[in-house]
Amino acid sequence: MRRRIFVPAAALALVLLGAPSAIAPSAASTGSAGSAPSLVGYWKFDEGAGTTAADSSGHGHPLTLQGGASWTTGVIGPHALALTPQQDAAAATPVIDTSQSFTVSAWVNLASTTGYQTFVSEDGTQVSGFYLQLRGDTGRFALTRIAYDSTAGYAAIASASAIVPQPGVWYMLTGVYDATAQTVSLYVDGQLQQTVHALAPWSATGPLAVGRGFYNGAPTDWVSGSIDDVRAYSGVLPASGIRALAGNGSITVHENQAGPTLNSTQLGAFLEEINHSGDGGIYAELVRNRDLKESSSSPVYYSAVQDNGAAATIALDTSTPFNSANPVSLKLSVSSLPAGGRAGIANAGYFGIPVTPATTYHLSFYAKAGASFSGPLTASLENSDGQVWATAKIPAVTASWVRYTATLTTARGIPATLDNRLIISTSAAAAGSSAWFAMVSLFPPTYDNTPNGLRVDLMEKIAALHPGYFRIPGGNYLEGDTLATYFNWKNTIGPITSRPGHDNSAWGYWSQDGMGLLEYLEMAEEVGAQPILAVFAGYTLNGSVVPQSQLAPYVQDALDEIQYAIGPATSTYGAMRAADGHPAPFSLHYVEVGNEDFFDASGSYNGYRFPMFYDAIKAAYPQLKIIATTNVTSRTPDVIDDHYYSNDPSVIAGDAHSYDTTSRSGPKHIVGEYAVTQGAPTGTLAGALGEAAFLTGLERDADVVIGASYAPLLVNVNADSWPTNLIGYDGLTSYGSPSYYAQRMLGDSLGTTVAPSQIVGGNGSLWTVASTKAGGTTYLTVVNRGTSAATVSVDLAGVSTVSGGTSTVLTGDPAAMNSIAHPMAVSPTTQRVGASGSSFRHTFPASSLTVLSLATG
Ligand code: AHR
Repeated sequence: MRRRIFVPAAALALVLLGAPSAIAPSAASTGSAGSAPSLVGYWKFDEGAGTTAADSSGHGHPLTLQGGASWTTGVIGPHALALTPQQDAAAATPVIDTSQSFTVSAWVNLASTTGYQTFVSEDGTQVSGFYLQLRGDTGRFALTRIAYDSTAGYAAIASASAIVPQPGVWYMLTGVYDATAQTVSLYVDGQLQQTVHALAPWSATGPLAVGRGFYNGAPTDWVSGSIDDVRAYSGVLPASGIRALAGNGSITVHENQAGPTLNSTQLGAFLEEINHSGDGGIYAELVRNRDLKESSSSPVYYSAVQDNGAAATIALDTSTPFNSANPVSLKLSVSSLPAGGRAGIANAGYFGIPVTPATTYHLSFYAKAGASFSGPLTASLENSDGQVWATAKIPAVTASWVRYTATLTTARGIPATLDNRLIISTSAAAAGSSAWFAMVSLFPPTYDNTPNGLRVDLMEKIAALHPGYFRIPGGNYLEGDTLATYFNWKNTIGPITSRPGHDNSAWGYWSQDGMGLLEYLEMAEEVGAQPILAVFAGYTLNGSVVPQSQLAPYVQDALDEIQYAIGPATSTYGAMRAADGHPAPFSLHYVEVGNEDFFDASGSYNGYRFPMFYDAIKAAYPQLKIIATTNVTSRTPDVIDDHYYSNDPSVIAGDAHSYDTTSRSGPKHIVGEYAVTQGAPTGTLAGALGEAAFLTGLERDADVVIGASYAPLLVNVNADSWPTNLIGYDGLTSYGSPSYYAQRMLGDSLGTTVAPSQIVGGNGSLWTVASTKAGGTTYLTVVNRGTSAATVSVDLAGVSTVSGGTSTVLTGDPAAMNSIAHPMAVSPTTQRVGASGSSFRHTFPASSLTVLSLATG
């Protein structure tokens, strides 16, 4: 390896005039050269093909790629110059007048960090007029100027002694020669490293070269690595301009400082019956209008089957009641049934009945036969062309209500289709005979094979979010529009045949309440979440308020509901829970009183409603934490539920700081509902990034924010009652929105403790949070809402090495959405990242959420 610092006797005079002593960094790059800097050469290296790199400065100095120099992925723009020894890219002439002040910058990424490697230079006859380089003698980056065009000339070296270059990491190097101050300075990643005296007023007369230097009259100092975005200026670029070249600032994570402990509830879920989230959604029942109450005038979603000459009608019948909770039955009247004919009932399901190959469906129904009607009955799944996918026989029906069950199994290899009906029919009934049906039900396989259970794909998607809590059962759905239609939990438990259902007046459709209180609680339990149980608190959407004198029964209902959830199996309601199949108490720790009671302008919430519920619940269950839905002064709630909705992602992102200054001695907060309402029926990437930015703030403030849940969670794409939702589906398939993937990424990157982090510089497009986990894992979450990639230096203070990890990125067109047809259009990708020191550079793509999961030591 050559020594590159010479102090020959002949140069003594120069040494005496211009010895390279270090100058205080603050003195550098103040623009002392007088004239404003001007871009004289700019090579973006974005061609990606060919042997010419255009000069974007407009001065006409293209570079020619030589010796096989090629292209690789860029750090700024799509491509960069790829080099191995003996390869370079050179101009035809000088570009910089090296006798005057100049600035030169380049992004460099080295494959190897040994030996002299010069990134940008300009040839003299013997040596280069400057070398922006990695020095072989020190292993550090430097701007080197030799005092005159001779190997005997004195070398002034501005070096980055504190930065040990890492292979595979992009660095932004900027060298400045200030002819007035007679100094050379080196900046790395926009930060001044060193300024030294330099007396070198000579002009290099040869070409500017990228990827090599010139020494002893010959090219040398070849580069192994990539070079991108090289700029040359006449004049001294001010420090602010040099920082701007370095991109979007830096992120420092203070692993040596303990931030708040993250809560097990930090990211949760919220479900209510909206958008056919339950019926026609996660509740796996495939028959629509099972309880025959969707319309009081006709058996909607049912039709009469009258094939091959048969004639039959169907009608709602209250004169042959099924039971007191469900007093309506479906009457099939057969007026003619010739041999080979078929008469019966058909149900169209929720926008079709999904049929998939090799699947067993569980059919059940109640039937009662009139005179001359005894069956047998055939149950079948058929499409609209009469293609039969599965059948089952019910040998006979009798004159009293009896429950019949059968399984319908489809063959392997059939297509998955939705355009199907469930048919229950007979080919043997006398003309003029009748039969009655009730509670016709068909379930596909359910999550965990639970009877009366939940849809597998939707539960899997929710489970993959690892929600720490499940806020149930609404929302507006809990409140109802009127006092007659709120979620009256006592009507939603017990056998499904005895649940009367209710008008979901909040969202405009009938709720059969097969998805009742028990199913909500079990859903939370099945995905490992604690329920946050919201109890009706005497206020409805139409503004009705239960007067104080009439509120006590509602308070008692809430106490009973809590007992149903957590009372011992020996208690009144705990015993009902046990009878309903769940002897063990649920893991309930939080009860929410009402929903969005800030809408109640009467003042009743603070005045008497919240206090009455609070006092009664605390007296009976002192261990429970009580959530208020708005600020109250009459009692001190344990937690306040705040909701955030906006169609502007910037507004939600800006809310990331909402809790930075919240009192740490008052109630905690939960964000029970949040969403950027942009896109339908599910949201855009821009919305997801706004939300992710918001969530970084909530995570940072984990000492006061116990959790957050997107709303609404589910939407049947055929029936959206709310514009923007997290997970969309039809009867057959489902997909997660960009917000879903963002939430999943954030959930997967929750350590145990927040590591305080800060962004220095940049243009305000970045949001970040970091956390750590015992055993040496650091999670760094960065949201870039900007329209260009941000290459940022990351410093993990308190860490000595990063032994590797992964980078998971969600990015794309900000307006992009997922859909049934394109379920993964916006979805994350994961790549391995290599080992590095505690400081490294990382590029966060435009419009992206990135989670770095790093093994740190
Ligand atoms: O998430 C949709 C609705 O928004 C919820 O039901 C209600 O609480 C809020 O207003």
